[in-house]
Amino acid sequence: MPELQEIELQHAEPVEAPTQKRYFTRFTRHQRSLHAVLFSTFLGLAATGLPLRFSESYWARKLAAGVGGFGAILFFHKFCALLLTLAFLVHVKDVFQRGIFHREKGIFWGPTSMVANWKDVKDLFGHMRWFLGLGPKPRFERYAYWEKFDYWAVFWGMIVIGFSGYAMWFAPFFARFLPGWALNAALVIHSEEGLLAILFIFSIHFVNTHLRPDSFPMDMVVFTGVESEEEFKKKRSTEYARLAAEGKLEARLAEAPPSWYVKFSRIVGFTAIFIGLTLLVLTLTAYFS
Ligand code: HEM
Repeated sequence: MPELQEIELQHAEPVEAPTQKRYFTRFTRHQRSLHAVLFSTFLGLAATGLPLRFSESYWARKLAAGVGGFGAILFFHKFCALLLTLAFLVHVKDVFQRGIFHREKGIFWGPTSMVANWKDVKDLFGHMRWFLGLGPKPRFERYAYWEKFDYWAVFWGMIVIGFSGYAMWFAPFFARFLPGWALNAALVIHSEEGLLAILFIFSIHFVNTHLRPDSFPMDMVVFTGVESEEEFKKKRSTEYARLAAEGKLEARLAEAPPSWYVKFSRIVGFTAIFIGLTLLVLTLTAYFS
């Protein structure tokens, strides 16, 4: 007589292995930390630079009165500038360390590089055709052409805004080897480039990264560092296929982010977007009034 347990096993339905959602690393903790310093100090620089630029406007005078005057605003501007400069220098050191000391050639050229290549040009035109319904959607690598554009806009912007900012901050020192007009030009360059950076980040960068249909209402990957397999396949199908072909996909597998961390990141992200959009509206109203 068969045992009860045996009968149960014979008649049991085949149990399907639970299909677990897989996650893949996109950004390391270090890269996410640098981005966090970048976006928080940028918000601080914009929130303090704008009242300096539009010091006659109602909201700038109100803000200055609330925080102890324009001197206090400038102090906070310089404090954020120092932190942002530090993050920028750490990033430049990282790039050189990886490219020159670790001989990671891919950082300067190839599918994982931030440097634009012929595929980016083809993707740009392919994307335009797709927008007009005239062709298939391009398949992207690790960084799409607009992500590279955003990166270089910030990179060169940092150099121009940084140099002109320090020239004004340490004017007596720079006046030793720069003509007087160059220091006046520094103010104009800093002011206009700062304004351009604010407009660019709070409109184009926000739309490119968070508000486009693939990511709406927010792309969490720069906070959590990971993305689901579906997201990865959909957004960067060429990178996914390349890693699969090279057998490197498994090495990128990661844990699912804890739900408290996703919630926390969402609050931080939405707060940043809200501050950015408010500053954008203030800039536009002050500029055109
Ligand atoms: C990263 C290094 C930076 C340094 C060292 C720096 C430094 C300064 C200084 C010293 C001033 C006051 C100029 C004056 O005496 O009138 C200033 C003004 C200003 N900054 Fe910056 N800044 C930096 C970054 C930025 C960034 C990233 C932005 C944009 C988000 C920005 C936007 C502005 C604006 C709009 C003004 C007002 C200019 C005007 O009065 O027309 N700054 N900055």
